[in-house]
Amino acid sequence: MSNVKFKVQPGGSIKGRIRVPGDKSISHRSIMLGAIAEGITTVTGFLEGDDSLATLKAFQEMGVEIEEPDNGNVTIKGVGLKGLKKPNTPLDMGNSGTAMRLMAGILAGQDFDCELIGDASLSKRPMKRVTDPLRLMGAQIETAEGGMPPLRITGTGENSLKGIDYVLPMASAQVKSCVLLAGLYAEGFTSALEPAPTRDHTERMLNGFGYPVTSEKLDDQRMKASLKGGGKLTARHIDVPSDISSAAFFIAAATVSKGSDLVVEHVGMNPTRVGIIDILKLMGANIQLEKFHEVGGEPVADIHVKYAPLKGIHIPEALVALAIDEFPVLFVVAATAEGQTVLTGAEELRVKESDRIQVMADALQAVGVDATPTEDGMVINGGKQTPQTTDIQSHHDHRISMAMTIAGLNAVSEIVIDDCANVNTSFPTFIELINQVGMQVEVF
Ligand code: S3P
Repeated sequence: MSNVKFKVQPGGSIKGRIRVPGDKSISHRSIMLGAIAEGITTVTGFLEGDDSLATLKAFQEMGVEIEEPDNGNVTIKGVGLKGLKKPNTPLDMGNSGTAMRLMAGILAGQDFDCELIGDASLSKRPMKRVTDPLRLMGAQIETAEGGMPPLRITGTGENSLKGIDYVLPMASAQVKSCVLLAGLYAEGFTSALEPAPTRDHTERMLNGFGYPVTSEKLDDQRMKASLKGGGKLTARHIDVPSDISSAAFFIAAATVSKGSDLVVEHVGMNPTRVGIIDILKLMGANIQLEKFHEVGGEPVADIHVKYAPLKGIHIPEALVALAIDEFPVLFVVAATAEGQTVLTGAEELRVKESDRIQVMADALQAVGVDATPTEDGMVINGGKQTPQTTDIQSHHDHRISMAMTIAGLNAVSEIVIDDCANVNTSFPTFIELINQVGMQVEVF
């Protein structure tokens, strides 16, 4: 793919009423569960980004009839839990950690062998976090050195997986979901106990497909989700709300630029995803939630944001997992806030599509922000406009490309961001929408 760069003109204010594309996490799961359900699942609002399309293609390669998405509409002819067929080629998960880790759970329970591969960024991401519990369940999986992709999964043959009670070593929805999806194919009960609540779309959607999952709150932080293997999923309709992680760039943009007034419509407001709103409000943001209602088991609302002067805070660690994908843009916001912002307890950021602590600290320093990376977070002394013209590297990470675009609002000169084709993984209409609401970003 040719190198795509963004040239961002400094300043601007953000106005209008927009709708961002469908939620990536829910889009992946709609294809996965639709494929292994019985009957025809229809999806509206599906994210036609490279990541969720990689999941869609993988199931087509395993014999599932899925009509090509048309304007977010997808129809999936479910084949039931045991109806997938051996793919002829390795399944390419592209840039998507969610696709690889969740699919590993489903594929560990099949009676055929298969291989999961990914791009340069995904090939460096840790998979031991899913191969450990899957092996405890009886799966046979080989990885490259250091537990990295590709994953080679040997079919279970006559034996089925065994249910386990798994205590997650880190707060990860991908690991939790992998264990639960493998649990569909296991004998007896499988549970996943997480050290802090993470996004619960898998549990909600399984329940929506008529597959009972129980979720138990053990104390302030720990949650346990359990299910019994050997049941069945029944096809249904899924309306995917807009992705709060994509809306985040626009919420941040309107918050930091004077004169802004923006509404982002129909955004998913699942309580396990709204950390960004809570963090921005603690910093002083002016955000109103309007038209709250529920769509297919997921809460949604319109988010109305106006400019507000912000102050630095120590971000509460309890909010970290609930805003895990939003830190690149939250760092950009912190650079505009008066005083110091401190993030701790976020070491998971080091194993995302890039090392988001190092890469964002480098990018912010390059434009002149006082940002110091720490092992598990960052310290940012904000409040000044950023003085430097510079070229930024995205390091194969869509959220770095988009976050540094938003940094242009607080800059005095243009910013050029290198390697931005990756924005298509989660947000193909980003440039169109950011220009529509008042920034000036050129693609070249
Ligand atoms: C996701 C879970 C998160 C998140 C990712 C999507 C999911 O990853 O960062 O973008 O859909 O389950 P972890 O579970 O590794 O934190």
